[in-house]
Amino acid sequence: MMTFFRKLALLPVLLTLVKSDFPLDIEEPILRNNAGDEIYRLPEDLDPIHIKVEMTPYFEAEDNKEAFTFDGLVELTVQAVKDNVSSLVIHENVREILALTVTNTAGVPLALDLLRPFERIREHHFLKINLGEGITLVNSEIYKLSIQYIGNINETPLSRGVFRGSYKGSDGKIHWYAASHLQPTNSRQFFPCFDEPGFKSTFDIIVNRPENFTQTYSNMAIKEEISIGNRRKEIFYTTPRMSAYLVTVHISEEFTVIADNNNAAASYRILARPNAQGQGEYALQVGPPITRWLEEYFDIPYYTMAENMKNDQIASPDWASGATENWGLVSYRELRLLYEEGETNALDKMTIGTITAHELAHKWFGNLITCRWWDNVWINEGFASYFEYFAMDGVDPAMELEDQFNIRYLQSALSSDASASTRALKHTVNSPAQVTGHFSGISYTKGASFLLMLKHFLGESTFKKALNYFLVERAYQHAFPSDLFSSFEKAVEVDNVLSENLNISQIMRYWVEEPGYPVLNVNVDMANGNITLTQERFFISPSATQTQQVWPLPLTFTTGNNPDWNNLTPSHVMLGRTMEIQKDPGHEWVIFNVQQKGIYRVNYDTHTWEMIADALKNKDSNIHHLNKAQIVDDVFALMRSERMSYDLGFKVLDFLKEETNYYSWFPAISGFSWLRNRFLHLPDTLRQFDEILYDFLDAVIKDLGYDVEVGEPLTRTLNRFTVLSFACDIGHEGCVNNAITKFNALVADGISVNPNLRRHVFCQGLLNGGLEAWRFLYQRRLNSNNQADEAAMLRSLGCTTNEQAIQEYLQMILSDDLKAQDSVNAFTFLLMGNRGNAKIVLQFVKDNVESIVKKVVLPTWFANVLSNLAAYMDEDGLNDMEQWLRANQASVPSAQTGLSAIVSARANMRWGSDRAQTVLRAARGSATVAVPATVLLLTTSIALMLR
Ligand SMILES: *[C@@H]1O[C@H](CO)[C@@H](O)[C@H](O)[C@H]1NC(C)=O
Ligand SMILES: *[C@@H]1O[C@H](CO)[C@@H](O)[C@H](O)[C@H]1NC(C)=O
Ligand SMILES: *[C@@H]1O[C@H](CO)[C@@H](O)[C@H](O)[C@H]1NC(C)=O
Ligand SMILES: *[C@@H]1O[C@H](CO)[C@@H](O)[C@H](O)[C@H]1NC(C)=O
Ligand SMILES: [Zn+2]
Repeated sequence: MMTFFRKLALLPVLLTLVKSDFPLDIEEPILRNNAGDEIYRLPEDLDPIHIKVEMTPYFEAEDNKEAFTFDGLVELTVQAVKDNVSSLVIHENVREILALTVTNTAGVPLALDLLRPFERIREHHFLKINLGEGITLVNSEIYKLSIQYIGNINETPLSRGVFRGSYKGSDGKIHWYAASHLQPTNSRQFFPCFDEPGFKSTFDIIVNRPENFTQTYSNMAIKEEISIGNRRKEIFYTTPRMSAYLVTVHISEEFTVIADNNNAAASYRILARPNAQGQGEYALQVGPPITRWLEEYFDIPYYTMAENMKNDQIASPDWASGATENWGLVSYRELRLLYEEGETNALDKMTIGTITAHELAHKWFGNLITCRWWDNVWINEGFASYFEYFAMDGVDPAMELEDQFNIRYLQSALSSDASASTRALKHTVNSPAQVTGHFSGISYTKGASFLLMLKHFLGESTFKKALNYFLVERAYQHAFPSDLFSSFEKAVEVDNVLSENLNISQIMRYWVEEPGYPVLNVNVDMANGNITLTQERFFISPSATQTQQVWPLPLTFTTGNNPDWNNLTPSHVMLGRTMEIQKDPGHEWVIFNVQQKGIYRVNYDTHTWEMIADALKNKDSNIHHLNKAQIVDDVFALMRSERMSYDLGFKVLDFLKEETNYYSWFPAISGFSWLRNRFLHLPDTLRQFDEILYDFLDAVIKDLGYDVEVGEPLTRTLNRFTVLSFACDIGHEGCVNNAITKFNALVADGISVNPNLRRHVFCQGLLNGGLEAWRFLYQRRLNSNNQADEAAMLRSLGCTTNEQAIQEYLQMILSDDLKAQDSVNAFTFLLMGNRGNAKIVLQFVKDNVESIVKKVVLPTWFANVLSNLAAYMDEDGLNDMEQWLRANQASVPSAQTGLSAIVSARANMRWGSDRAQTVLRAARGSATVAVPATVLLLTTSIALMLR
């Protein structure tokens, strides 16, 4: 699974939004572990060896079969690994169990308990098969468990398991298909099994599809086909030994191969609905080179991982996450795989590349070796997320993904890991809801950032060596973090890269088992070159209680008189709370965390900050773009956590007024948006703050211009994309006028808008236009044949302020014109597009609770609708919403979540009201710098004398 999205949904990646899109920080709900939760785990008395699943789907009712169900037959070959096993417990969450038998190796059935041959323990999704009185399994003997059952084809992919989806064909008709999405805990809906990542077996999949359908796609190719009546039995080759969540099928009338490398020895194909023909070329262009890059990096070839390996990628119009790494048949939401020139924007195109790299990296980290249990899902997701950027970077360096990793992943890790309620990479989970919750920001972003830090600490060749040891050692098995630590220990020893007093296992373990990360306080004595360092946990909340944690921290730094931005090998490792480092004496700035490869923030004494501020403004100092990005991101966080005054912070940020670089602006826009979102209820402050922001934005907008230039670097296009969206959103006159002109030219003369400008052009067009403009774009969305473009238009449709258009938009959310997977986003777009819409949305929610609950499918999603609503509401609206929720606590699901979101919304407003004047004054830059109390000031007086 892939995630970009942290604040809103429990199910990752779902949505196409990024964190800075949201006005409020919505904490991920903390799923507490209750005593007795371990009951969700299977006993370890059986080892599955081979599983054969045969399914017959019904798309229409026939005989005594209901439509959208399937007949299932599963045969599990298991080995007893304990003595005295008198009952067999496996997972199961199917519709109905019809019959079951247990036989021994000789094929002789074992007697089952007469009264209760089996029990379905629904709460924990267990199937418990009770052997007859006095009968037990014999340790290391093999048994066969056969179960005949009926399964459901769920209405949407959000329910996971086997589900149905649809698309409009070129004939204009709706076509249905069925597919499966089993990760992480939904194989049990498809077939009774051992539904934990640590249990591995080979699988034989058999599908009896309707004769007039096209061939079924599964993990493996079809080995044999037989026609039986109006059905065709398709028998697939045996899979590699793998976890049950990696099984998949895709059954349809007409899905087909839309791009193919035609290489029998190393097949790579893109599959999709036939009317997406032509949109698979980009995915095909990147996939095979990424595969080769990974094969070389890990020194383990892909196509020999098992016999008959293939490497298909399928675009599913309906998919609950971004993509899922099913072995041999990776499934993607359409917009994450299909590219259409002139319609898909550069960010979505880049994401096709990076997601492909993520899913392909899973073939080694996730599929070949798999975390023993989901408490360490970072072993799957951290590695996949790391290679998502670094493998794609190896294939297309022009995307600058090594650098983009910092602003999109590392800084995002620093943000999600700064709350008091954050979890460690290793985090105990048991129930399916807890498991799903741990597929969250930390496992992806911090996991990947940790690997990056490790690579620079040990050097890439040792890092590679360790990964190879790990993969070879644990191939086709599950792995614990301790297996990974041992591999690193071995590689470190062979390469002799660490000094004696450092134990890599212990260092890694600390980072994996401890939540949070440190801020490094740096105090420089300019006179003698004495640098005093202290570390403590960084909390974003100024009132959080400090802990005793001390991280083993590899350090890099460089200095103003002798800057070196390219030496990324740590010169020191901080093991205690404080440390002293000696540099040459001299009046100069120092900057720690060169190119920000380490997971820590840095705060300096005031004088050093002032020197850094001057250096940033002086183009000759050539501060590395990644350190500028680091400083911007750190400064916003340090101001928020009250470790730095707003006056000093804005003094440092002042360089942005002349800055045009993408890497500086990306964190800047997130930081400015965060502040601005707290002033939304203060019209006067907001107007003044916006004036200040226009001033900040002037230089970068002038540099970027309002049009995409042919052949420009990707990051310039991305910079324009984010900067102009922000500028237009806050009413920057030049941006707004240019956007309206472009929109009008599209409406009047059909002049196409570059996809990289559509977000703000369409939004401003609708804000400025009335119902007609809205209907124009609505129609354009209905006619689109590209999901990325549709998603972009959906977002813009939410920008309208026209009451009739808003009503039509809300009706659309409930209609079949919008897939369930986009429903929560659709609500959010309407709020983001125009905050004034919130009250209308509230009324709609009040009037349509039941239909909305049904449309969004998942209870957590309905909770998200309520939380987002609160986030955009003014005080009147909040009162209204609060009264409604209080009066209907029994009937409105997640009413409590809604009520706590109201509390957060009010706290955010209070935050803004309390600090408006301070922030405005600081942002204007007119104030003198006040010395912040929380910074270490041991030697400041000496430093100031040397000024
Ligand atoms: C299995 O059961 C038998 C008889 O009850 C007992 O003697 C034996 O110790 C048990 N073995 C184990 C490993 O529990
Ligand atoms: C396949 O047959 C079913 C039942 O006869 C029919 O409803 C469906 O439209 C057919 N599909 C195709 C692709 O011909
Ligand atoms: C490192 O520490 C681990 C346990 O904390 C220990 O098992 C291992 O032997 C140590 N390695 C070295 C090289 O001292
Ligand atoms: C560096 O500063 C610390 C703290 O002021 C002091 O204890 C130490 O002696 C200094 N070291 C040198 C070499 O001046
Ligand atoms: Zn993943």
